[in-house]
Amino acid sequence: MSNDVKLAIIYYSSTGTNYQMAKWAEASAKEAGADVRVLKVEELAPMAAIESNPAWKKHYEETKEVPTVTLEDLDWADAYIFSMPTRFGNVPSQLKQFIDTTGGLWSQGKLTNKVVSAMVSAGNPNGGQEQTLQSFYTTMMHWGAIIANPGYTDPSIYAAGGNPYGTSVTVSQDGKIVNDAEGAVKHQAKRTVQIASWIKKGQQ
Ligand SMILES: Cc1cc2nc3c(=O)[nH]c(=O)nc-3n(C[C@H](O)[C@H](O)[C@H](O)COP(=O)(O)O)c2cc1C
Repeated sequence: MSNDVKLAIIYYSSTGTNYQMAKWAEASAKEAGADVRVLKVEELAPMAAIESNPAWKKHYEETKEVPTVTLEDLDWADAYIFSMPTRFGNVPSQLKQFIDTTGGLWSQGKLTNKVVSAMVSAGNPNGGQEQTLQSFYTTMMHWGAIIANPGYTDPSIYAAGGNPYGTSVTVSQDGKIVNDAEGAVKHQAKRTVQIASWIKKGQQ
């Protein structure tokens, strides 16, 4: 089904939620036959901030071995899944900073027709999930990417809370995902690979 789709799953996570979502997406995309890279964006916060939050410090240490995304990864992949926590209803600055290094690739047309889908987390059920995804997708439109949002294409989306823009999760104070999102993440990843395979085949 995948037609050798190359998928980069790119995430930012302070306390592990979006890492978990990236890992669920990885499992599903691999099952769909894609060649997958899971990549974090570079942490830009000062060490003092990271160390002030034990959960952040723990996750930072635990994911030191995860490769950091580079522009070469964007060039390599046919499709991207981005996963991000909201920051006051918007894209976290760490991810935004990486996005803002893509001008060169963009000007060479290398981001055109990449298939993109995005996922999000927040501390509250209405904490800015949809707005964060919309902000992110605005940038994807400027890239000339093809947005492969989930819509209502699978029952798992309703089970997760019914966000058609991308799977969204809510995290409790103790860092647990409170909604039933694993199925929706896996569906979103599979759908992204499938759409990317259609686009790829269509260009051959
Ligand atoms: C600076 C900052 C701003 C945040 N803004 C919001 C917000 O507006 N609404 C909300 O529900 N959660 C907000 N949160 C909570 C995070 O979205 C939540 O901790 C995150 O989704 C957990 O993902 P992670 O474990 O991958 O880091 C904020 C957290 C931080 C640190």
